[in-house]
Amino acid sequence: MLAAGGLVAFPTETVYGLGAVVTEDRAVARIFLAKNRPHRNPLIAHVADRAMAAVFAWFDERADRLAEAFWPGPLTLVLPRKQGVPLSPLVTAGLSTIAVRVPAHPVALRLIEETGLPVAAPSANRSGRVSPTRAEHVARDLGERVDLVLDAGPTRVGVESTILDLSRHDRIRLLRPGGISRERIELLVGPLAGRTSDEPARAPGLLGRHYAPRHPLRLDARTVRAGEGLLAFGSPPLPGARSVRNLSPRGDLAEAAANLFAMLRELDAEDLEGIAVMPIPRRGLGEAINDRLRRAAMPAETVG
Ligand code: TXA
Ligand code: MG
Repeated sequence: MLAAGGLVAFPTETVYGLGAVVTEDRAVARIFLAKNRPHRNPLIAHVADRAMAAVFAWFDERADRLAEAFWPGPLTLVLPRKQGVPLSPLVTAGLSTIAVRVPAHPVALRLIEETGLPVAAPSANRSGRVSPTRAEHVARDLGERVDLVLDAGPTRVGVESTILDLSRHDRIRLLRPGGISRERIELLVGPLAGRTSDEPARAPGLLGRHYAPRHPLRLDARTVRAGEGLLAFGSPPLPGARSVRNLSPRGDLAEAAANLFAMLRELDAEDLEGIAVMPIPRRGLGEAINDRLRRAAMPAETVG
């Protein structure tokens, strides 16, 4: 179906992706249509290995070290793009860089290998909504807009890949915290730089409101207010909530990341005045969890 220009949702170890072959202009255009995604927001090219990525992107020594250490896995590298290779211009939104990653999920890898070409895929949700960690989430969000959903059960990591920008020669930039913690990356390549003020133009999907639930979200809650649901972390959960989901009763950040989006969706489907979220440590995967929650809690006018 991919080879014929179809749209296929598939599992990765982070979240489900909405895939099209990178050379199929019309299929890639359908991704933007299905998600209602602005065209200026580029996509990640999912590849089977470094060799497939190197057809499209220039690797320097730092990129090689990172790929060697973390691929297959939840790490996306933004690298200078090679010219003169067949690639739909929509994938990179006209930028001179390309985002590449080798997913660690066996179904995703097999799909790319069989197709023989990179698969461009954003998370398989409507633009700005909560990312899908189960096939049902994709079906509910996108319905008839996708040709096929490959169901391999819940995803293991639960938050999207960490995105690093290596396209400039100064320090490596952390564009999005994700499934590989900053600490693990910095052990290998030293301190990461943050985003700069011109980055919104370069990575428009990385700022502003996102993961938007229906109910207002209240972060770092120390008490629960009347009518609120609770997204808890650790034990015991705060008392007094109308409904409770605990990200990790034993306070484990990897478990919390894996539960985050599904529990947010569950609470959001209930009849509540709002959702209170208990404090979650910022170390390790906590950086990505707090980033997603912060953006889910932003007021609606700050759409990024
Ligand atoms: O874990 C993940 O990364 C998932 C799975 C499906 O692989 N994918 C995902 O894709 O989260 P998406 O499109 O939801 O987020 C990718 C982000 C976007 O915010 C986009 O702006 C940024 O990556 N991006 C893509 N290409 C870029 C580039 N050349 N330069 C800077 N940012 C880029
Ligand atoms: Mg997304």
